[in-house]
Amino acid sequence: MNTTRCDRTPAWRALQTLFDTAGRAFDVREAFAADPKRFGAFSQSAPHIFADLSKNLIDEATQTLLLDLAQQSGLQSHREAMFAGEKINNTEHRAVMHWLLRNPPLALMNKGREDIQNVANELTEVHATLDAMLAYAEVVRADAAITDVVNIGIGGSDLGPQMAVLALDEYVTPGKRFHFVSNVDGHELAAVLKKVKVESTLFLIASKTFTTIETMTNAHSAKAWFDAKGGTNVARHFAALTTNVAAANAFGISTTFGFWDWVGGRYSVWSAIGLPLAMAIGAQGFREFLAGAHDMDEHFRTAPLAQNLPVRLGLLDVWYRNFHKFTSRSVAPYHCALKRYPAYLQQLEMESNGKQVDAHGEALPYGTSPVIWGEPGTNGQHAYFQMLHQGTDVVPVEFVAVKKAKHSLPGHHTLLLANVLAQAQALMLGKADAGGHKNFPGNRPSSFLLLDELSPTTLGALIALQEHRVFVSGSLWGINSFDQWGVELGKVLAKEVQARLGSGDATGLDGSTAGLLAKLRT
Ligand code: F6P
Repeated sequence: MNTTRCDRTPAWRALQTLFDTAGRAFDVREAFAADPKRFGAFSQSAPHIFADLSKNLIDEATQTLLLDLAQQSGLQSHREAMFAGEKINNTEHRAVMHWLLRNPPLALMNKGREDIQNVANELTEVHATLDAMLAYAEVVRADAAITDVVNIGIGGSDLGPQMAVLALDEYVTPGKRFHFVSNVDGHELAAVLKKVKVESTLFLIASKTFTTIETMTNAHSAKAWFDAKGGTNVARHFAALTTNVAAANAFGISTTFGFWDWVGGRYSVWSAIGLPLAMAIGAQGFREFLAGAHDMDEHFRTAPLAQNLPVRLGLLDVWYRNFHKFTSRSVAPYHCALKRYPAYLQQLEMESNGKQVDAHGEALPYGTSPVIWGEPGTNGQHAYFQMLHQGTDVVPVEFVAVKKAKHSLPGHHTLLLANVLAQAQALMLGKADAGGHKNFPGNRPSSFLLLDELSPTTLGALIALQEHRVFVSGSLWGINSFDQWGVELGKVLAKEVQARLGSGDATGLDGSTAGLLAKLRT
């Protein structure tokens, strides 16, 4: 792998000059006036997704230099290393192969992927596990006596399946309810346990490591509830989704579906962690979800950089973060079923790219992950869009719109689509007002992702697109996007504080924590 940190390339310096001379003052309205072909030049078709990038603060010269930046940083070499199964997660000495989970079996693959031979054994294991998991999902779907599936997991073991089950609600088999318990706050599990019955509930304990304290605490409480209510058949009512099958067995769970250390938690919805989704939409639906993602993998792996949607999005992210110095991106899915999509993307991008050192541990002189936030439209319009239109900070917005609705209520969908178009338009065009209060500055950038419908296939493609755009920015920044050391300190301290909450011992504590500890104990 031959990579160079973005700030050590000639293109980086050229981009800084371009930004200082023309980029800072770029006006997208003028760019449209000067170039009637702008929409075509700055839009990109990718599998199952059309992207309009033309409302961004970018022109041909900037795009060319950003593509040079990608070349000079060795993006292609890094991408090839990932797809060849090299251990690019250097701090954990692991390969990064979530893409392999959606790869067709070797026998069904087209020729021309010699590098796949490096991971042929892993691919065989992937399909053996996938077949077993989907067969189990179908058994549970056919079992009318199981009415409630409770997924206990957190982070990647919760956000992916939860987001996808909600998003694909229209495809969910009637007769089964899906619950997601992630928080160690007992209110969450208690509320679910009030609604379910021992004989009709299946608990899925989802944890890559099978050590995460929140998940283990909830799993033990669920098991204690099951025992107290007279439950006996643990094999029927508990299954574990984990890379640590031995720990699941030690917990007393014999029905297990495994995955591998080369699947990061936030990239694991395609693995056994996706079992709730498979149970919800069926084996065929889950295979379509994988196929949509695989189509995007192939696009990312093979399309020239200039026509590669994850690359174009990732380059825009670098342009905004490091030259315009925008610190956040708002995501606005105009589909109410995508309500957990922003939360899902928060983990995907912020846990991957929220880093202050490069892959060699050297401090970075530039910003990395932006803050990702948002709500489905149109709700966000009546909450924080005020700030997006008239606030002092510029926040790029990424809209998602879906052409066809799955309901037949007259008028609603046209109104929804009118709103998403109007918001993007208003951000860009603005409106002058001499009085000031009604002045919209405009020139506020947005991207627009358009799906034909929200289906397993298109959702798979959308999520894979987001994974790869995070790879692109992380790669240029020279960071390891696949570790997450930043979550460790809090975990260690929580254990220590837990003991102090019991004993009241404040020796050596900082003044604030000691004061709060005393308050909590009285
Ligand atoms: O603490 C962060 C994290 O490790 C995430 O990366 C992960 O998705 C989550 O915890 C849950 O981990 P596990 O699946 O091992 O329980």
